[in-house]
Amino acid sequence: MQIITTKAALEAVIEECKKEKQSIGLVPTMGALHEGHASLVRRAVAENDICVVSVFVNPTQFNNKEDLAKYPRNIERDAELLSRIGAHYVFAPTPEEMYSAQEMNTTFEFDFAGLDKVMEGKMRPGHFNGVVQVVSRLFYLTRPEKAYFGEKDFQQLAIIHHMVERSSMAGTFGKLEIIGCPIVREESGLAMSSRNERLSEQEKQTALAISKTLFDSLKWAKEAGATVADVQQRVIDTINAVPGLEVEYYEIVDQTTLLPTDTFEHAIGCVTVYCGPVRLIDNIKY
Ligand code: PAF
Repeated sequence: MQIITTKAALEAVIEECKKEKQSIGLVPTMGALHEGHASLVRRAVAENDICVVSVFVNPTQFNNKEDLAKYPRNIERDAELLSRIGAHYVFAPTPEEMYSAQEMNTTFEFDFAGLDKVMEGKMRPGHFNGVVQVVSRLFYLTRPEKAYFGEKDFQQLAIIHHMVERSSMAGTFGKLEIIGCPIVREESGLAMSSRNERLSEQEKQTALAISKTLFDSLKWAKEAGATVADVQQRVIDTINAVPGLEVEYYEIVDQTTLLPTDTFEHAIGCVTVYCGPVRLIDNIKY
């Protein structure tokens, strides 16, 4: 496995792969890798000739400086894991390598068709502009046939699908296929996240109420006369009743439009909860 830190070196390697007609699978990450990332990488290794993993804590998608500063980073451990599971290249640039000063300081404009106006987009203004900025750059540099993203960030996945559909129409990313992979959970049910590293043992126990409540809500949705509004409120009240947890939002929305829905068909419930200072997200499909 080779670690690459410059765009020029990555482009040279990709050019060689293209010449050899090797298919490329890309797994974009911000590092602090866990079993959830590993599942994406294993799949990319299995389905492509070459697997490229980017490890880059993207500053432009953080609207909170403290969150950016505290985001866990451990490239040595990440590289060790990636080499063990068969990734071929790790792209780990510095922010200065990735962006010019101007790019770093101006919002990347993109037409989200409203997908950025709800949930994460509403709570973290500009977040998805930064995500689209970095992901589109990674696509241009890596020219993958397939790119893999976790379903835990469901809204991010919907936005990337939208971005690729729009740009493919203009012929930008060729035949790029976006592959959403299921959430990987701890045995306890807690959705795996790099942010879990910031939880104390006590907070990890407390956080279990999040996934438990989401799973319980599948049963509540089947109760006679249950409405989406009732289930939504019951999830919020149940989680908020746990000391140490505070729901930022829980919204049951249509899986495609991400707009509120009044039916459980094709619906997904997306939650963001503060567990102490750590912001956790999770979701459940009804
Ligand atoms: O999901 C993430 O880790 C990030 O948002 C991504 C897609 C790697 C872009 O920085």
